[in-house]
Amino acid sequence: MCPEQHRSRRPPLWTRLGLRGRVTVTFALGALILSVLMGAISYFTTRHFLVGERESASIKLAFGNAKTIREDIQLHAQDKTRPLATTIARALSIADSGTKTSHSILRYDGTWHVRELQFNQNALPASLRGALRSDGAAAQTYTYRGTPELAVGVRIRPIHAVYFEIFDMVDLAHTLRVLLLALVGAGVVTTVFGAALGRWASGRSLRPLTGVSRVAATIAGGDLGTRLAAAPGDPDLAALTRSFNRMVDQLQERIEREARFTSDVSHELRSPLTTLAASLEVLEHQAGTLTPSGRRALELLTADVRRFQRMVGDLLEISRSDTGSADVSLEEVDPGELVRRSILAAQRTLPAAGEPPAVWVDPALEDIRLLVDKRRFERVMTNLIENAAHYGGGATAVRVERGPSMDGHDASVRISVEDAGPGVPESERGRVFERFYRGHAAFQRGAGTGTGLGLALVAEHVRLHGGRVWVDDAGAGGARFTIELPGHLADDDDQDSPAPARGSP
Ligand SMILES: Nc1ncnc2c1ncn2[C@@H]1O[C@H](COP(=O)(O)OP(=O)(O)OP(=O)(O)O)[C@@H](O)[C@H]1O
Ligand SMILES: [Mg+2]
Repeated sequence: MCPEQHRSRRPPLWTRLGLRGRVTVTFALGALILSVLMGAISYFTTRHFLVGERESASIKLAFGNAKTIREDIQLHAQDKTRPLATTIARALSIADSGTKTSHSILRYDGTWHVRELQFNQNALPASLRGALRSDGAAAQTYTYRGTPELAVGVRIRPIHAVYFEIFDMVDLAHTLRVLLLALVGAGVVTTVFGAALGRWASGRSLRPLTGVSRVAATIAGGDLGTRLAAAPGDPDLAALTRSFNRMVDQLQERIEREARFTSDVSHELRSPLTTLAASLEVLEHQAGTLTPSGRRALELLTADVRRFQRMVGDLLEISRSDTGSADVSLEEVDPGELVRRSILAAQRTLPAAGEPPAVWVDPALEDIRLLVDKRRFERVMTNLIENAAHYGGGATAVRVERGPSMDGHDASVRISVEDAGPGVPESERGRVFERFYRGHAAFQRGAGTGTGLGLALVAEHVRLHGGRVWVDDAGAGGARFTIELPGHLADDDDQDSPAPARGSP
C-alpha cells in the first residue's frame, strides 16, 4: 500500500476528536465567537461615544479660543501700544492654559504663530488644512510622532486668520486600551468556560451511551440476558432503552430458535443413525460373504456413518449449551490428577494416538483445586490430543501450571498441550475455534477427515467452566493449545483426596 493511500484512509481530524471532543470544541468556538462579537460591539460603541464627546468638547474650546484671539487682534488694531507678536503670543498662551494638554497655532497675515516649537504648522495633518479651505471649521484625529492627537481648525474670517488647536488624546487612548484588554480577558475566560461547560455537558449526556456500550459488550460476550436499566424520567433515554432492549430480545429469540433448531435436527438424526450403525455392524459380521468391492463399499459406509454420528453428537452438545440446556455436574478435583486421568481416557478412545505425552505438573498447584465436569474435561483433552496426533505428529508434552488469579478466584490453572508439528499459522489462530472451520493443516496428507467442530466444542466446554482457551507457538515450534480454568485454594482437610461434587454453574 502506498503512503498516499494510507493517509487518505485516515479519518478527518474532526472525526478523530471523538464525540466528546467535538461537543467541547463546538461549545468553545460558540463562546469565542459570541465573546468576540460582544467585545467588538462594546469596544467600538464605547470608542465612538468617547471620541465623539472629546471632539465636540475640543471644537467648543477651539471656537472659544479663536473668538478670544480675534478680539485681542481687533483690540490691537485700535491700540498699538504693544507689538502684534506679543499680543498674539499672550493670546495663544492664554488659550493653551485652558486645558494644559493643547497646543495653539495661528496663521495671521501670512505668518505662522506657534507657542511651542515642536507643535508648529508641520504638526498639522495636511488633510485638515485642505478641509478648512472649503469649511469654516474642521476636526481630525491622527497620530503625530507616535502620540494620538486631535487637531481642530477654525477659520476666523473677520481678520482673515486660521486658528488651529492640537489636543493630546493619550488619556483617551489609554482608557480604550484598558477597555480592549478587559474585553480580551473576558473573551478568553468565556471561551475557557464554554469549553469546560461543553466537556461537562457532553460527559453528562454521553454517560447513558457508555452504559449502552457496556451492556452491548456484555451481550456480545455471550450474556444475552443482559438488558439496559429502564430510564422512566427521561423521554429520550427511555425511547433508546426500549428500542435497544427490544432489539436484544429479538436477537436472543432468534439465536435461541436457531440453537433449538440445530438441537432438534441433531436429536432427530441420532435415532436413524444409531439404527444405521447397528445395521452396518450386522453387515460387518457377514463381510466374508461379500465381494471385495462390496466389502470396500461397506468399509467406506461404516467410516462415514461413524463420522456422521460423531458430528451429530458434537452438534447436539454444542447446541445444548447454546440453548442453555447443557447439564454440567461439577466435581472438585486436583488439577494434576485430573489431567493424568483424562489423558489415559483419551488414549483409550484414540488407539492411533501413540504413546501418551509426558505430563509436567507445577508443584505450586499442590493446594489448588478445580471445579470441573470430568466428562467434558476428558472430551476437551481427547480433542486436543487427537488434533496433535492428526496435525502435529502427536502430543509431545502436557504442562499443568499455576496461572495468575482470575476475577473472583484465588488462582487459575493453565493446561497446555504441545506438539512438534507445523503449528497453527497466526492468521488462523482466532478462527480455529469457530464451528466447522478447518484450517490449512486439515488438508495435508494423512490429516484425517474431521468436521471442524472439535475445537469449537473445546471452547464451549471451557467457557462453561468460566475459563478460556487459546493457541500459540510451542517453545520448540509446533502448536501449543492452552486452557485456563479458574481455581481455588483447597480446604486443609481436603489436601489429600479430591472432594465430592459441589453443584453446577
Ligand atoms: N495441533 C494442531 N496443529 C496444527 N493445526 C491444528 C492443530 N489442531 C487444530 N488445528 C487446525 O485447526 C482446525 C480446526 O480443528 P478442529 O479440531 O476444530 O477440527 P478438525 O480437527 O478439522 O475436525 P474435528 O471436528 O474432527 O475435530 C483444524 O482443521 C486444523 O487446521
Ligand atoms: Mg479436531
